[in-house]
Amino acid sequence: MKLSRDPGWVELERLATVVRPLHLRTLFADDPQRFARLSLRQDGWLLDYSKQRVTVEVMAALRNLWQAADVPGWIARMRAGEAINHTENRAVLHTALREAHPRPEVAAVLARMEDFCAQVHGAGHLNPWRGATGEPIRHVVNIGIGGSDLGPRMATQALAAYRVPHLDVHYVANLDGAHLATTLARCDPAHTLFVIASKTFTTQETMQNAASARAWLVAALGEAAVQRHFVAVSTNLKAVAEFGIDPANTFEFWDWVGGRFSLWSAIGLPLALAVGMDNFRQLLAGGAAMDAHFFDTPVDENLPATLALLDLWNSDFLGAETRALLPYSQSLESFPRYIQQLEMESNGKRVDREGQLIEYPTAAVVWGEPGTNGQHAFYQLIHQEGRLIPCEFIATIEADFALPGHHEKLLAHCFAQSEALMRGRTLEEAAAVSPSPTLTPYKVFPGNQPSTTLLLPRLDPQQLGRLIALYEHKVFTLGVLWNLNSFDQWGVEYGKELAGRLLPMVEGRVPVAGLDSSTAGLVNAAQRKR
Ligand code: F6P
Repeated sequence: MKLSRDPGWVELERLATVVRPLHLRTLFADDPQRFARLSLRQDGWLLDYSKQRVTVEVMAALRNLWQAADVPGWIARMRAGEAINHTENRAVLHTALREAHPRPEVAAVLARMEDFCAQVHGAGHLNPWRGATGEPIRHVVNIGIGGSDLGPRMATQALAAYRVPHLDVHYVANLDGAHLATTLARCDPAHTLFVIASKTFTTQETMQNAASARAWLVAALGEAAVQRHFVAVSTNLKAVAEFGIDPANTFEFWDWVGGRFSLWSAIGLPLALAVGMDNFRQLLAGGAAMDAHFFDTPVDENLPATLALLDLWNSDFLGAETRALLPYSQSLESFPRYIQQLEMESNGKRVDREGQLIEYPTAAVVWGEPGTNGQHAFYQLIHQEGRLIPCEFIATIEADFALPGHHEKLLAHCFAQSEALMRGRTLEEAAAVSPSPTLTPYKVFPGNQPSTTLLLPRLDPQQLGRLIALYEHKVFTLGVLWNLNSFDQWGVEYGKELAGRLLPMVEGRVPVAGLDSSTAGLVNAAQRKR
C-alpha cells in the first residue's frame, strides 16, 4: 500500500508546515518538560530525541504510521520465515542466529566456531591449531568485502578492549592490491591464518585477494600448507571445496542471512577469534535483547521504531538529504561506515515492493566520523552553512579505555555540540562575545539543526550487540514504511557487469570499441600508461 496516500501521511504534511518555522530554542523555552516528553530510557540506555524538530503531536502522527503500514504484520512475516525478500525469494532470519536457544544448524556452527577459536587460541586445548611448520597462529587475515567485511571489522575495532593477547586480526577487502600487500607485509606465512569470507564465494574482489594470498603462502610454505592456513565462511560449500579449502575447515551459513546482516553468523568468525567466543556469544545476547525489545514494545517506547520515524520525518517531511552519524567513541570509528552499507544498500531504492516508482525520498546519505575528530573537519559546515543535516550522537557514560582526564572532556564536547546545534547564537548574543563589531556576523549560528543523542552505559560486547540490532530493526521498519524490499541490492550489479565487459579492453586483449568517448578515453589512457 502507498503510505503517502494514507490520511496519516497527509496529516504529517500539514504538521510539517506548522513545525518548519519553529525554532528548537523556542520549543525548549516553551516547554520545560520537553526532554522528559521526548526521550526514552531502556535498560540503561537513554535516547534523547528532544533536540529533533518534532513536537508531541508530530510524534503521535508518526507513530500512527506504524499500524497504517502494518509494521507488526511484517515483523510476524519476517519471524515466520516468509520470503519477504521477494525479489530473491528468500527469508530474512538473521534474528534466528542470536536466539538464546538457536535452531540445530545454527547451534552446530556456533559450537564449531567455539572449538576452532579455542584451538587457535591454543591455551589449554588438547589439539591446538598449528600452522604447517608447527608454529602457533599470530595473525588472522579476513578476506571479504561488504557484509563479509564491514561488520566483523567494525566490531573488532569496537571491542578493542576485549582482544585476546598474541593474535592480530586484519581485514582485507579492497581489490586494490595495496590493501593485501600492506597487510601481508605485517604478517609472516608460518604464523598467518586466512579466513576467506564470502556468502557467494564468487565476489571478484574476494576471489582475487584469496588467490593472491594463497600464492603468497604457497610460495613460502608449499601447496600442502594451504590446509593449515586457510579456512572459509560461506553458503557456497561447493565453490569453497573447489578453491581447495578442506570442508572440515569451512563454516557454513545460509541464504536466509543477508550479507549486511551476517555478522551474527560464521561471518563473525574473525571477530570471535579476536575477542574470544564468550564475548561473541555476549554480542549475540545483546542482539537478542534488542530483538525482544523491538518485537514486544509498543511503538511509543520502541527504540528502533523511534529512530526510524525520526528518519522518515527528517527525510520526507523536512527535506533532509543526509544524516551525520557521530560516535563520540574512537572504538566506534568504523560504525558510520558499517551503517552506510546497512542503511544505504538496504533502503536506497527507487521502486517499491510492487515495482512501482517510489514518490518520496528513501534512505538518507549517511556519513560521519568519530568526535572529537569531526569537530576539526566538517562541523563548521553543519553549524553555519545552513543546510539541514540531522545529527546522531552516540556516547558511552564509561570509557572503554579509562585514561584519566579524557572521558569527561569527550562527553562535554559531545553534549556541547548538540546544544550548539540546537540553540545557535543570535546576533545580539554574538555581539556580546565579539571583540569587534566586524566579527559579529561570523559568530552568529542559526541553530535549529536537529540531533539525537544515544547514551549507553559502556561499550561492551552486549551493548554493541544491542546497538547493531537497533539499527537493523530501524532499517527494517523504514523498509516497511517506505514499502520497499530492504534485503536485495540490485543497484550493485550493473557496475559489476560493466566492469566485466571493460576488463578485456583494460587488459588490452580486445580492441576498445562500443564505448562512449569518455569511457573509451579513460581505457585508452590507462592502456598507454601500462
Ligand atoms: O555489495 C554487494 C554485496 O552483494 C553485498 O550485499 C555483500 O555483502 C557483498 O557484496 C559481498 O558478497 P559476498 O559475501 O557474497 O562476497
